Amino acid sequence: MDKSKRKAIIAGNWKMNKTPSQAKELLEAIKPLVADADCEVIACVPYVDLAVAVEATQGSNVKIGAENVHWAESGAFTGEISTGMLKEIGVEYVVLGHSERRQYFGETDETVNKRTKAALAAGLKPIVCVGELLWERECDITEEVIARQIKLDLWDVTEEELKNVVIAYEPVWAIGTGKTATADQAEEVCAFIRAQIAKLYNQEAADAVTIQYGGSMNDGNADELLGKVNVDGGLIGGASLVAEKFAAIVKAASK
Ligand code: PGA
Repeated sequence: MDKSKRKAIIAGNWKMNKTPSQAKELLEAIKPLVADADCEVIACVPYVDLAVAVEATQGSNVKIGAENVHWAESGAFTGEISTGMLKEIGVEYVVLGHSERRQYFGETDETVNKRTKAALAAGLKPIVCVGELLWERECDITEEVIARQIKLDLWDVTEEELKNVVIAYEPVWAIGTGKTATADQAEEVCAFIRAQIAKLYNQEAADAVTIQYGGSMNDGNADELLGKVNVDGGLIGGASLVAEKFAAIVKAASK
């Protein structure tokens, strides 16, 4: 499979950083630096920054994503945000199942699946995150963990819907720790994910799906990681908060 046939996607995951005015400032700095990117560029920002972010990136090549979404259309879910709310302000992507949601907010594969289905039904593109804990890697069950997450998180997602799904492989031990997976480790698991997609759907669907790596990806290691045949992009935390660093990763993906 020719990697260049897949869409390379670099997405920033800002997490709980930046107020609306700071968000505008960062996006204004990012825009000119990535204007000639040969890959998709996304900034996933906190809910309260979304409207400002959509406005600030209008007419540019930077797309905006949210960091989570509820599966119900509306109702008694205090503190939650629906797909309709995101759609109305022009949000295109949404990060789902991030390990911080799983670790601190009780996210399970079942709820990730519900969110994924709801996002797709509403026309949002989910970035579905999977990844093993350090302990699971040490116990040599990385593949079991990933296979289970892929199967459950994408349960009942049709082949047609899968075209709008991005998968992010984020080994939990590499997130925010400065410990990047080696390019070979990233490639190994991204290839495994692709093989799982081929098993659940078919080879054509597997060849077309964008699989990102995430976990301490930065301007120094992006080239090597993105050079791997099954690594189609990155989900970037810390380095996405610095315009020059984020732009350098976008440049690495544009080669
Ligand atoms: P990091 O975060 O780049 O800061 O490790 C990645 C992520 O959590 O998506």
